[in-house]
This record gives sequence, structure tokens and C-alpha cells, in this order.
Amino acid sequence: MNTRPVFRFRVGWPLVGLMPALAWASLATLGGCPGSGGGTIIEPNTPGPANTTDKGNNGARYVGTAACVQCHGAYAASHDRHAHAHKLTRIQGQPPSYPASTSDGVPNPPAGYRWEDISYVVGGYTGAARFVDLQGYLVTTGGTGVPTQWNLAFGPAAIVAGFANFFAGDPQPKPYDFERFAYHVTGAVAPDPAAPLFQDNRAGMAGTFFEPGVQCEACHGPGSNHFRSFPGSVIVNRAAIYTDVSGAATCGSCHSRPYGAPSTTIQAADGYIRDQSQWAELKASGGHSSFACGVCHDPHEGLTFGQRSIAIRNTCTACHRSQNMAGHGGKVYRRASDGYTEPLTCESCHMPYATREAVSAPAAAVGPVARVGDKRTHIFRISTADVDYRQFFTPDGTQVRLDAQGRAAVTVDFVCLRCHNDNGLFGLTLPRAAEIAPNVHLLP
Ligand code: HEC
Ligand code: HEC
Ligand code: HEC
Ligand code: HEC
Ligand code: HEC
Ligand code: HEC
Ligand code: HEC
Repeated sequence: MNTRPVFRFRVGWPLVGLMPALAWASLATLGGCPGSGGGTIIEPNTPGPANTTDKGNNGARYVGTAACVQCHGAYAASHDRHAHAHKLTRIQGQPPSYPASTSDGVPNPPAGYRWEDISYVVGGYTGAARFVDLQGYLVTTGGTGVPTQWNLAFGPAAIVAGFANFFAGDPQPKPYDFERFAYHVTGAVAPDPAAPLFQDNRAGMAGTFFEPGVQCEACHGPGSNHFRSFPGSVIVNRAAIYTDVSGAATCGSCHSRPYGAPSTTIQAADGYIRDQSQWAELKASGGHSSFACGVCHDPHEGLTFGQRSIAIRNTCTACHRSQNMAGHGGKVYRRASDGYTEPLTCESCHMPYATREAVSAPAAAVGPVARVGDKRTHIFRISTADVDYRQFFTPDGTQVRLDAQGRAAVTVDFVCLRCHNDNGLFGLTLPRAAEIAPNVHLLP
């Protein structure tokens, strides 16, 4: 294996700080700025790297994405394609609107509801949609007797678009409160137990946020100290905007459970990893455990609907240059029952769908042993043991089992059997898949 990394990303800002001319030059690419009739001025002698420790940007206020993209127009289109931008949509009598010609979207609210009865839609752009009522509670099947989760079509798990049950057996109201919305918003503030505040004064929404969706300031902190408008000009203070290159304080607080701090335990439920666990998964990945998310991801370019060549900065083979395709090079998987196709990639085996946010594949599509959720895992390591998913998790099923070095490895029911299950492709038993796995990179 040749693992000489080709880093195509920027590691902090000292270069910019030392080269004011470069910073000035980049102004040419900036569009019209708020309040600027004349030029934009970068505050002189701004030290670089920028403000990297205070996520609050020295007591700044949130100003909103619309303000940021006036100057940083180059980010507007890519951010808009990203799942972050549309994770939560405020509803005003109309269906949520997503970038055109990408997502199938959310055509209707659940039976018995009009758009006027809905305050927010959670998701619906890159994954299933859930609906929040005017009181700030999730609309559940247990509470209404009708299916209330709108699934988008999702080929890998053989899911077709349509309404499905959501908390079917549980009639308890489900508040859409801080614990749930913190992952979906910008500027989330937990409720103070002594004097709780409620978003929009909705009883189910204990806690507050500034903007729905994961917007610019979710990662860069509140932006009001970064620029000041005067008649005819704007002053920009480059140092007063937070940038988290390691990802620990931003990616790590939302892409791990519980919300708020990077975690190294991978939570699980019902035989799948729980969603938003990528930080802990990466820590359990052995060879990649010290990587920042930004080693592979451009933080601004969407993945599901973005340009993949931008969204993924370093592909597997940029580093693993001499690794082969394990006998699967050029093969295309085709499932007989619904015609789903997938050209084989490294990710097909090393990032299987071991996580479930909303849906998982029915046994009718993938057989009784295979397990296919709706998110790829970042554990990357594959177990070659003749064991099933139950050994992948702790005995109580609430966490992924870690070895003495803190690593995990995904079992072959997730990895191989999602394709090799006699639905258009020859089946493998679990013991047979485990037997082949250690030598699979030796296949011609
Ligand atoms: C009035 C114009 C203007 C507005 C509005 C603006 N910026 Fe900037 N921003 C700049 C300029 C100019 C620079 C320095 C040149 C560059 O890096 O492109 C900069 C730099 C940055 C940087 C890099 C900082 C560094 O290390 O040098 C980040 C991050 C950033 N802006 C984020 C934001 C966010 C988030 C918002 C909205 C809250 C925002 N900007 C609003 C003009 C603006
Ligand atoms: C998911 C977190 C996240 C979001 C959301 C986000 N950024 Fe960034 N941004 C980063 C990180 C991390 C960097 C550090 C550099 C890198 O890895 O590319 C960065 C770097 C930047 C830079 C400096 C990059 C350069 O090449 O000079 C600017 C400017 C910027 N962001 C503006 C924005 C604007 C404007 C938005 C909203 C439209 C936004 N960001 C949304 C995480 C984010
Ligand atoms: C405020 C919480 C929050 C922060 C901060 C955050 N994310 Fe996310 N991210 C989410 C949510 C929620 C989703 C959508 C997940 C879903 O719907 O399945 C998401 C989705 C993504 C996706 C899928 C994009 C697509 O278009 O399909 C990537 C990649 C991602 N995040 C990477 C990052 C990285 C890298 C960082 C740090 C630079 C980061 N995120 C910071 C909450 C966050
Ligand atoms: C070694 C490279 C690498 C690193 C490091 C990495 N990712 Fe990824 N990630 C990928 C690739 C490749 C994909 C896309 C797979 C595909 O084509 O669908 C992906 C997909 C995702 C997705 C979408 C998953 C899905 O199935 O919807 C999210 C969310 C995400 N990454 C978040 C993160 C976060 C957060 C971090 C840091 C904790 C991170 N990634 C670190 C390579 C990486
Ligand atoms: C930025 C460089 C880089 C990228 C991109 C990258 N890797 Fe790696 N990978 C490494 C390094 C470095 C190691 C550790 C090498 C070692 O231990 O010999 C590693 C280790 C691994 C391991 C062994 C893990 C273990 O500890 O058992 C697997 C499997 C792996 N990578 C798969 C992938 C796949 C699949 C992708 C694409 C989704 C990918 N890598 C992307 C650099 C990278
Ligand atoms: C058909 C499934 C499959 C495909 C496709 C596949 N791998 Fe693997 N890979 C495996 C399995 C299974 C192992 C575990 C072998 C073991 O632990 O003995 C493995 C092991 C590895 C390792 C760690 C062992 C080593 O050689 O050091 C790396 C790194 C790796 N693969 C990278 C890649 C990359 C990069 C690609 C794409 C070019 C890829 N793999 C494609 C199944 C696959
Ligand atoms: C994304 C679907 C997919 C995954 C995941 C997958 N395979 Fe395959 N596999 C295929 C396809 C497609 C072929 C080609 C069948 C053909 O050409 O008729 C294939 C072929 C094979 C072959 C025959 C190779 C040859 O040279 O004839 C073996 C053995 C095999 N897979 C084992 C595995 C093992 C073990 C795993 C897990 C480590 C695995 N596969 C994961 C789709 C997959």
C-alpha cells in the first residue's frame, strides 16, 4: 500500500496573513457588499491565522447567511446544494422549497394536515421528512393514526417515495426541542431550566435558534464583528470570524452523539448505528483516526447533490495509490427486484450502509441476513470474522463494540451480503463471505 497523502486543502491561514496583497487581490472576486457604494476595506495588519479559538467571535451577534453570501458569493451555490442548508425549513403555508432539479422534495403534509398546520419540515431534501405542528411537536403516527414520515426514494435500501409510520406504537407527544433541533440549526441555545425560552413561543420547542438549517455561522460563529457598514464603504475584520480547521468544535459537535462535544462512543439502536455518528466512527477507523473531516470533505460543497469532484477533496486512491479493487473493478451491481444499480467503488465495501437515520432495507429486497441502512459508515475497517451484526455491537445493542485500541470493524452482513443475496447476484452465506474477505484484495 502506498499512503502518501496528496493534500488538496488549506491548512490554516498564516500564508494569507503574511501576504496582504493576496487578500486584497481576492477582493476582485467578491460581489457587491452590503451598504457598499464604494470599496471594501480589509482592516490593516489583521493577524493570521484568523480567530481560531473563540467560536463566539468576541461576543458577536448572528447576522444570517443572506448577509455572508453578498460578499462571499462563490459559496452561495455550493452551500445551497449542501444538505446542511436545507436540514430544517420554516413553513409559511407553502411546501418547503429545495434547489430545483435535485431532490424529489415533499409534496404534501401528512393526511389530515394542511401546510397552514405545519411550522417546520425537518429534512426532506437528502433524506426523509418529518413535520412539526404549530405547537412545536413532531407529527407522529402514534398521535394521529396515519403515516407521518415522508420517505424519499433511496435505491441502496430499496425504499420508494411515500409516507411511512413514525413513532407508530408511541402516543406520547414528541417535542421538537433543543435535544432534537440542535443538530439542524444555526445558533442553537439550550433552554435555561430556571427560565426556559421557546423558539417562536411554541410549547414543544424548548430552546431557541437563530436560523433554521446548518448555515454559515453554524461553523464560523456569529458574524457581526467581521464587517461593519458605513455610508459608502464596509470595513472587514478578517480576524473576527472563526474557522475550525480541525473540525472538532463544529463537525465534532453535530456529527457525534450526544450533541455538543466530540464523542468517541458510537451509539446504536435496533441493530444499526445511530445517525450523526461520523466523528466517533472516524476515531474508530484505525488508519484515519487522526484525520480532520476536511481532509476528505470540502465543508461547503454538498455531497448528495453537489459536485463530487469538489465535495470529496481526496479520494481513496489519492492516498491508497496502489490499492486494487478487490476483484470488483469495473463491475456493476444490479438488483433484480427493483433494478437498482451501483458501479462498484472502494466505498461500496469500505463505507457500507451500517447507519440508519430513517429507513432500512426490507428482507424481501436484500434477504434475511444482510443489513442495509440509509447512511454510509466512516469506520472503513471490515471484520473478516464469521460473526454477524450482533458482535459488531455491545451485548445490550446500544453501542458499537470497540477493541483495545478503540477501533471497530464492520461485519460482512453489512459489507458483502447487501449485494450477494441471490436477488440478481449470486448469494454468499455469512461464513462464506467471511472466509473470502481476508483474501478479497487478492482476487484478480
Ligand atoms: C462586507 C463583505 C463581507 C461580508 C458581509 C462577510 N465577509 Fe467574510 N470576508 C470578507 C473579506 C474581504 C475577507 C478576506 C478575504 C477572503 O478571505 O476572501 C473575508 C474573510 C472571511 C473568512 C476567512 C477568514 C480568514 O481566516 O481570513 C471567513 C471564514 C469568512 N469571511 C466568513 C464569513 C461569514 C460566515 C460571513 C457572514 C456572517 C461573512 N464572512 C460576511 C468580506 C465579507
Ligand atoms: C459545515 C461547516 C461550514 C459551513 C456551514 C460553512 N463553512 Fe466556511 N469554512 C469551514 C471550514 C472548516 C473552513 C476552513 C477551510 C477548509 O477546510 O476549506 C471554511 C473556510 C471558509 C472561508 C475561507 C476559505 C478560503 O478559501 O479562503 C470562507 C470565506 C468561508 N468559509 C465562508 C463561508 C460562507 C460564506 C458560508 C455560508 C455560505 C460558509 N463558509 C459555511 C466550514 C464551514
Ligand atoms: C449544526 C450541526 C452541524 C454542523 C456544525 C455540521 N454538520 Fe454536517 N450535517 C448536519 C446535518 C443535520 C446533516 C444532514 C444529515 C441528514 O439529513 O442525514 C449534515 C450533513 C452533512 C454531510 C452530507 C452532505 C450532503 O449534501 O449530502 C456532510 C458531508 C457533512 N454534513 C459534513 C460536515 C462537516 C465536514 C462539518 C464540519 C466542517 C459539518 N458537517 C458540520 C449537521 C451539522
Ligand atoms: C478518509 C476520507 C473521509 C474522512 C476523513 C471523512 N469522510 Fe465523510 N465521507 C467520505 C466519503 C468518500 C463519503 C461519500 C461516500 C459516497 O460516495 O456516498 C463521505 C460521506 C459523508 C457523509 C454522508 C453520508 C451518507 O451516507 O449520507 C457525511 C455526513 C460525512 N461524510 C461526514 C463526515 C464527517 C463529519 C467527517 C469528520 C468526522 C468525515 N465525514 C470524515 C470520506 C471521508
Ligand atoms: C488523505 C489520505 C487518505 C485518504 C483520502 C484515504 N485514506 Fe485510507 N488510510 C490512509 C492512511 C495514512 C492509513 C493508515 C495506513 C497504515 O496504517 O498503514 C489508512 C488506512 C486505511 C485502512 C486500514 C484501516 C485500519 O487501520 O485497519 C482502510 C481500510 C482504508 N484506509 C480505506 C480507505 C478508503 C476506502 C478510502 C476512501 C473512502 C480511504 N482509505 C481514503 C490515508 C488515506
Ligand atoms: C469487494 C469489497 C472491497 C472493495 C471493492 C475494496 N476493498 Fe479494501 N478490503 C476489503 C476487505 C474485506 C478488507 C479486509 C481485509 C482484511 O482485514 O484481511 C479490505 C482491506 C483493505 C485495506 C487494509 C488492508 C491493507 O491492504 O492494508 C485497505 C487500505 C483497503 N482495503 C483499501 C481499499 C481501497 C482503496 C479500495 C478501492 C481501490 C478497496 N479497498 C476496495 C474489501 C474491499
Ligand atoms: C455493491 C455490491 C457488492 C458488494 C458490496 C460486494 N460485491 Fe462481490 N460482486 C459484486 C458483483 C456485481 C460481482 C460480479 C458478478 C459477475 O461478474 O457476475 C461480484 C463478484 C464477486 C466474486 C466473484 C469474483 C470473480 O472474480 O469472479 C466474489 C468472490 C465476491 N464478489 C465476493 C465478495 C465479498 C467477499 C464481498 C465483501 C467483502 C463482496 N463481494 C462485496 C457485487 C458486490
